[in-house]
Amino acid sequence: MKYLITGVSGQLGYDVKRELLSRGIAEADIATPRTAEMDITDKQAVEKYVENFRPDVIIHCAAYTNVDEAEGDPETCRKVNVEGTKYLVQAAKQVNAKIIYISTDYVFDGENPDPYQVNEPANPQSIYGRTKYEGEKLVREYPKHFIVRIAWVFGINGRNFVKTMLRVAEEHTEVSVVDDQIGSPTYTVDLAKFLIDLSGSDKYGTYHATNEGFCSWAEFTEEIYQDAGLSTKVNRVSTEQYIEIAGRQQAKRPHYSKLSKDSIEANGFTRLPSWQDATRRYLAELKKEGEL
Ligand SMILES: NC(=O)c1ccc[n+]([C@@H]2O[C@H](COP(=O)([O-])OP(=O)(O)OC[C@H]3O[C@@H](n4cnc5c(N)ncnc54)[C@H](OP(=O)(O)O)[C@@H]3O)[C@@H](O)[C@H]2O)c1
Repeated sequence: MKYLITGVSGQLGYDVKRELLSRGIAEADIATPRTAEMDITDKQAVEKYVENFRPDVIIHCAAYTNVDEAEGDPETCRKVNVEGTKYLVQAAKQVNAKIIYISTDYVFDGENPDPYQVNEPANPQSIYGRTKYEGEKLVREYPKHFIVRIAWVFGINGRNFVKTMLRVAEEHTEVSVVDDQIGSPTYTVDLAKFLIDLSGSDKYGTYHATNEGFCSWAEFTEEIYQDAGLSTKVNRVSTEQYIEIAGRQQAKRPHYSKLSKDSIEANGFTRLPSWQDATRRYLAELKKEGEL
């Protein structure tokens, strides 16, 4: 099998490549073009690259991911998340490859306190969420697709909430963190395993794949500090209070980002470990890499 990974310089793409290598897939069978080599917003570049490499699976991790900046630059966000995805789907069709599209909890409005099932109606509230959902719709038109919605991503290769909170703890003895947004974190190491398992199957369709369990950002922070042996105090605040403290407006975030992972088990795959377990292993990875 040959794999094409987009977004390898990002958090998820990096770990997807590592997972493939750890399963004994040869480097030559893994293509990881950076933007300079295959800008996904360039139709011809995508067509040419895919036609040459002829992957069996495209794992599409690249995206415009800056949720707040997207509000001020919807065009760029749309170009990458919608146009880019369109070209990749067309190219997949060209060579009959499967495509895995990574999507987000932000396709939902977050008003439902119960976990969202994969087939529940979307209602994105931000530019980022809307463009990711438009991407989903394009992917769904091609039969050999998997859509995998994830949330609150953390991995070794890039910036994320865990690294930010660890940095904040170096300078502050207490910190205010939002306690009224509930979701589940996703460790890219665990997700990469699931994605590769998925890619070997023909169980096409939509999945939710975060780590197990739910928490608020404040609870997540408490776990991070506890596991890292830090005594920094976490003050639980509402989203409104946080915006006031931070002094800047953000893109609207869903209050309840609880994704039901039932479809993982229903299709014979293994659920990801709990978010607490994932956090502990991530901190150990940061330590090993000298980042903690
Ligand atoms: N981060 C989260 O919390 C989160 C939550 C839910 C869903 N997701 C989804 O999960 C996926 C992976 O996220 P991540 O956090 O790993 O992303 P990330 O670290 O922000 O990396 C984004 C990647 O996209 C690439 N990219 C951007 N524009 C491109 C273009 N025009 N052509 C080719 N590549 C381009 C970047 O490459 P360059 O470095 O070369 O620019 C980078 O490798 C995305 O689909 C995202 O929407 C993320």
